Amino acid sequence: MKDIYILGIESSCDETSMAIVRNGNIVESFTVLSQMDTHASYGGVVPEIASRMHTENITMVLEETLKKSSIKLKDIDAIAVTYAPGLLGSLLVGVEFAKTLSLIYKKPLIAVNHTIGHIYANAINNKLTFPLIALVVSGGHTDLILMNDDYKFEILGSTLDDAIGECYDKVARVLGLPYPGGPNIDKMARMGSPTYDLPKPVNDNTYNFSFSGLKSHIINLVHNENQRGNIIRKEDLAKSFENTAIDELTRKVELALNKVEVKELIVAGGVSANKHLREEMEKVAKKHNIAYSIPDFKYCTDNAAMIAAAAYPLFLKKEFADFSLNAKSQSSILEDF
Ligand code: KG4
Ligand code: ZN
Repeated sequence: MKDIYILGIESSCDETSMAIVRNGNIVESFTVLSQMDTHASYGGVVPEIASRMHTENITMVLEETLKKSSIKLKDIDAIAVTYAPGLLGSLLVGVEFAKTLSLIYKKPLIAVNHTIGHIYANAINNKLTFPLIALVVSGGHTDLILMNDDYKFEILGSTLDDAIGECYDKVARVLGLPYPGGPNIDKMARMGSPTYDLPKPVNDNTYNFSFSGLKSHIINLVHNENQRGNIIRKEDLAKSFENTAIDELTRKVELALNKVEVKELIVAGGVSANKHLREEMEKVAKKHNIAYSIPDFKYCTDNAAMIAAAAYPLFLKKEFADFSLNAKSQSSILEDF
């Protein structure tokens, strides 16, 4: 069979990224232009600035991606783009750019859901083994998903309130760490001991998560200690928070693996870059004697290689989008588009 080359485009938040991916799993060329430094000075992503920066940078990102590869735009088989969920203004820049390329170069257009993209980051240099359980942990999601085949999703559980990444970012902020907080808590926790006694999320038997109680407890604790003039042992609090949050993720994954028979556990989304989480999930998979996959660090956070990888099964099924494709800030992976 002829090799299939897909150009992926990702602009759902504060990264402008493009990649050329062969047959859904070999990355030929990859560019990520992060706006992180700009947004860090505001303590979080400013949507208006993000979309303006995507507009400024997107053509350069394409030029750079093509320069790094021997593949020309005319040799590309399809253009894939993140259409949802994310910041509307940011998504619109990518969607309009993809539609224009598709029109001019007469290539099929493929609409990719960002969360599904994170899952398919595990298909890069790898083959997914179904059925599998995917733990998706990002700034917007904490989902436990059963996949029986490509694009056959069953959501076992989700967060009832805050996403785990959001919780990392809020805890980092109250500890005075810069945005994005997750990687900074990750580093700080490595220097601490879990000496703070933090509340455990409710021990129920569902696959749902809840992190807002833990987050609020830490914010209140820091404010109270500050008011009393007491010193916060930041490294220890970061470690205590990380242990409590990751124990909860581990407990729910184990609950699912005890009830549902699968061949593989995969972890996806920005928080999958977390060292402690990566180690704990590997232990769980080993204990259950199933395969384990986690993306390379560069494919954990937002990137276009995962979008092109997720587009490949849609390309094979000829599930193409037309030019009425529009960006959506909210969407479920179960949605039919
Ligand atoms: O997947 P992602 O890049 O964007 C969304 O789709 O949300 O995830 C971003 C989230 C942020 O909350 C960030 O703090 C968190 O992933 N994150 C981490 C780490 N690296 C990124 N959280 C914990 N440890 C990390 N090493
Ligand atoms: Zn993401």
